[in-house]
Amino acid sequence: SLHIVAKVTFSQEMAAKHVQYKGIKFPPGYNSVDSLCFAENEFQVRDDDIFNITYPKSGTVWMIEILSLILRGGNPAWNQSVLNSLRAPWFTTQLGLETAHNLPSPRLLTCHLPIQIFPKAFFSSKAKVVYTMRDPRDVLVSYYHFSKMCIPFGDPKSFNHFLERFLSGDVPFGSWFDHITGWMKLKGKSNIFFISYEQLQQDLCGSVKRLSHFLGKDLDEAAIASVVENTSFEAMRKNNMCNSTELPKEFMDQEKGTFLRKGICGDWKTHFTVAQSEYFNRVYQEKMWGLKETFLWEQT
Ligand code: A3P
Repeated sequence: SLHIVAKVTFSQEMAAKHVQYKGIKFPPGYNSVDSLCFAENEFQVRDDDIFNITYPKSGTVWMIEILSLILRGGNPAWNQSVLNSLRAPWFTTQLGLETAHNLPSPRLLTCHLPIQIFPKAFFSSKAKVVYTMRDPRDVLVSYYHFSKMCIPFGDPKSFNHFLERFLSGDVPFGSWFDHITGWMKLKGKSNIFFISYEQLQQDLCGSVKRLSHFLGKDLDEAAIASVVENTSFEAMRKNNMCNSTELPKEFMDQEKGTFLRKGICGDWKTHFTVAQSEYFNRVYQEKMWGLKETFLWEQT
């Protein structure tokens, strides 16, 4: 099959019944308790694996495209002919796991796992992690729209209702705050690279250079320029191998939204009321103060 989810049929009814694993909700159908348990406890990590890790809606697919191109020295042929789910499989799912097992090294692997259920084998390996984060207010807005079109995530109902759920961590993949604070504990380790959606927006070329260096693939200027060109929002929108249009309708309903929706920073300003923004800030401060970390989005 073309894609990891193509064999699974979804319905709104199923979507309401999330898979629960270690107190975290996962979208049903392609995640199961067995596949998550396998990912955590038995997944064999190779020393040259590269993990692309995010909380949902933080730039996961953008980073898949960037990393795929870097590995191919800027040659866009792979990105343009092979679905992103086959280039950087979701190894926490049954079908993604099969794809991952059959990939030659170095593998790109994608997941939204919080650190406490990440493959145990990683922690004694030399594998690398690229962790991409984004302004949680923009994550929330993007997540809200995405949940309307991506059936297994379940109908978000009203924006305010979804905001409440997001702030309390009652959404698939759990709390954004826990995800970030959990992964940030690895800060300073040489095999983990933190980057933000905002940094990618501000300086894609510089970000690509730093990522290539981290991966030990120092590309020449022409190769860097090709990575940048092929990972622009417009280029990705035109590429059916990453714009989600090849996914089955039961999984992604293209009539209810567009996966590559706006691709900007600060869209939260067109969604939040003043009261919602104040409420969000209060929760943010409460949850984040202990991190002693400054993020680009805090300036806006
Ligand atoms: P919006 O809904 O705000 O537009 P993920 O891949 O983690 O699901 O994240 C999807 C978000 O990343 C969407 O945000 C999408 O538009 C944005 N995105 C993907 N590729 C992008 C690119 N090349 N440039 C800017 N934004 C991009």
